[in-house]
Amino acid sequence: MKIGFVGAGRIGATSAFTCLQHMDVDEIAIVDIMEDLAVGEAMDLAHAAAGLDKYPNIKGGSDYSLLKRSDIIVVSAGLARKPGMTRLDLATKNAGIIKDIAGKIMEYAPESKILVVTNPMDVMNYIMWKETGKPRNEVFGMGNMLDSSRLKERLYAHGARNIRKAYMLGEHGDSMFLAKSLADFDNEVDWAKVEEETRFVAAEVIKRKGATIFGPAVSIFRMVRAVVEDTKEEIPTSVILDGEYGIKDVALGVPAILGKNGVEKVVEYDFSEEELEGFKRSASILKERLKELGY
Ligand code: NAI
Repeated sequence: MKIGFVGAGRIGATSAFTCLQHMDVDEIAIVDIMEDLAVGEAMDLAHAAAGLDKYPNIKGGSDYSLLKRSDIIVVSAGLARKPGMTRLDLATKNAGIIKDIAGKIMEYAPESKILVVTNPMDVMNYIMWKETGKPRNEVFGMGNMLDSSRLKERLYAHGARNIRKAYMLGEHGDSMFLAKSLADFDNEVDWAKVEEETRFVAAEVIKRKGATIFGPAVSIFRMVRAVVEDTKEEIPTSVILDGEYGIKDVALGVPAILGKNGVEKVVEYDFSEEELEGFKRSASILKERLKELGY
């Protein structure tokens, strides 16, 4: 089993490390525009692996041919928002990067599944899908899995126990919504507080440590594992929709079954009117953003 990473920054390196620790990976390839960084991360990861008595083939560099025959490629390359940069500036820059990466993946690893992480993720996921021309089950994004982990953490902090299901869905961003009708746990909680805290907790982490890293890395690992080990788990995933929940031609977060074919199914629950409105609101915001970028 081979996992590719485009982007050897905080997210790329930490998610590679998490995958390495929790799975038996045969090969890891890390590509970054900063060649030394990718080579250095690959070396460091190989040393970590040996400490676990594992000897996978780990290579890093700036040459995309390293990605050949990857089962799945995690794309976290791009810029983070800098002071003075608007949301649209960032989206325009990252869209250019994603477009370039899409072409290179199709040249060297056209069979690979692609997990998009770069923000604004749902928009980048759609652009990756358009630019690769791949089937929609093979290109998907990580966002709501992380938002849902944050929800679970906040639920527990407010007294919930035995949390069996708790999802944030829609956009991985401001318009995401709590899927209250699906939530399944023991005890009562103050929903308003939980929702408010879930929405703002990422900004708090960024304010304090500059970035979110471990949370995203574990969510990436969970999604990669579902695909490479064909677990058929239900995971909130950014999917290019084609009529599910009445929405078409945009990517946003929905419950999905992940397995060896990537997104094997969008699970269509009987959501409340309010929740269905949440999907529609996210879809219209994301379509507007795509339009701004010429899609
Ligand atoms: P980082 O700045 O540490 O790493 C980004 C890497 O991308 C750098 O090593 C850079 O050299 C590389 N890069 C830039 N342009 C490239 C290109 N054209 N080709 C190849 N590599 C290129 O950033 P970090 O913290 O790893 O975050 C990466 C992205 O992930 C950001 O867009 C961030 O907003 C996003 N993110 C998404 C999350 C989600 O839940 N979807 C969670 C956390 C971060």
